[in-house]
Amino acid sequence: MMDKRGQFSSKIGFLLAAVGSAVGLGNIWGFPTQAASNGGGAFVLAYLLLAFLLAYPALMAELVIGRYARANIVTALGDLGKQPHTRLLGKAVGYYGVLIASLILSFYAIVAGWMLAEFGQPLTQLIGWHSAAQWLAQESILRNLIVALVFMALTIWIVARGVEAGIEAWSTRLMPVLFVILLGLIVYVLFQPGATQGLRTYLVPDFRQLTDPALLLSAMGQAFFSLSLGVGTMLIYGSYLRKQDSLPRLGAAVTLMDTGIAFTAGLLIIPAMYVAQHHGVPIYGEGGELLAGPGLIFQVLPSLFDTMGTAGVGLSIAFFALMSIAALTSSISMLEAPVSVTVERTQLQRPGAALAIGAAIFVVSVLIIFNMETLFGFIISLTTEYSQPLLGIALCIFVGWIMHRNHVLEELKAGHKDIEHSVFWKVWPFYVRVICPVLILLAFVQSLRG
Ligand code: PHE
Repeated sequence: MMDKRGQFSSKIGFLLAAVGSAVGLGNIWGFPTQAASNGGGAFVLAYLLLAFLLAYPALMAELVIGRYARANIVTALGDLGKQPHTRLLGKAVGYYGVLIASLILSFYAIVAGWMLAEFGQPLTQLIGWHSAAQWLAQESILRNLIVALVFMALTIWIVARGVEAGIEAWSTRLMPVLFVILLGLIVYVLFQPGATQGLRTYLVPDFRQLTDPALLLSAMGQAFFSLSLGVGTMLIYGSYLRKQDSLPRLGAAVTLMDTGIAFTAGLLIIPAMYVAQHHGVPIYGEGGELLAGPGLIFQVLPSLFDTMGTAGVGLSIAFFALMSIAALTSSISMLEAPVSVTVERTQLQRPGAALAIGAAIFVVSVLIIFNMETLFGFIISLTTEYSQPLLGIALCIFVGWIMHRNHVLEELKAGHKDIEHSVFWKVWPFYVRVICPVLILLAFVQSLRG
């Protein structure tokens, strides 16, 4: 069984896959808009602090458990404990994690489908398929179903191909394209009139807003969501990592790149909004707040592209390609969580498991599409605001209290010989044992009271 497990063929393969998982709609859409409407530079600072002080240690917990166990989250957590009740608890947490990963995918596929539709629209227009373009432009249940299905099919196809030929190969192909498109768009937008005002809104700090506990909580939720934590995706990616690679360094690289790209995306999105305003597109909601939700991505930016003539068509294709790619490298990691559990714990083969689980998740997407008002927001807050931080606590507790300290050290030593004498080893173990769970819990309770 062991030798049949997939493995990333190189450090860079793992990095691109893990960064691909982390960098998604959360970075390019969620982060910039939260920053712009919550104190600009002050939010950016708070976010960076939280990402390194809370999310990085939790990410390390997942990577250590995953590579030590060389297994999916259910088996890994189930095998860590010595007593029957800790083993049972481990399995329960594992199953809850993959359930949450699946639910995240169910709404993510819908949003990613919208991105595909926006991507296909100018493209079909360009090649003269006007009725297709019109159909894509028209918001309807049928359109939403079909584009979400297409996105889900892509996700299933990649995951079915396995770790190296699917996840690694496609992350390695798509992530560089994503970097290039992102940078190209930023350079273009920053030279447009209005962009500087956007930069100011994004970067000039307003520290008064930082005292709001709700803000810290949303920054924390954002950090956990952005680093794909708690739901077994980073754990399973860690389990496919070679023993000779250094976990603390790779984890730090993933955190740096994820926050770096979130920050960079802000340099595109917020200035683009102000460029749009310069072109007469309204960018404030009724209450005077900056538009942040779907209105931003599906109204403000498309109207901006519309005002730009031919350049706008190219920009729009590039922008929504960027969003679709970011979503796809994340969605494959979400599907990998339940698929790895199924493949490693049952007789089912990978392609069958990917198809069956992907189909089941799509059924949930269909339910959401038909009950948008009641289900969409509910599932998002259930998964990302409530479950992910709580699962993060659970994983810190597993690595800090249940996993044997010598095993943790051994695992870290493989690939990082002198770890025992590093600052990391002096700080991190106590940190995941006590500080992380307490801080996450505090923020969580604070939010419930608020
Ligand atoms: N990190 C992804 C994003 O920012 C979302 C994600 C959450 C991916 C959980 C995998 C697991 O969009």
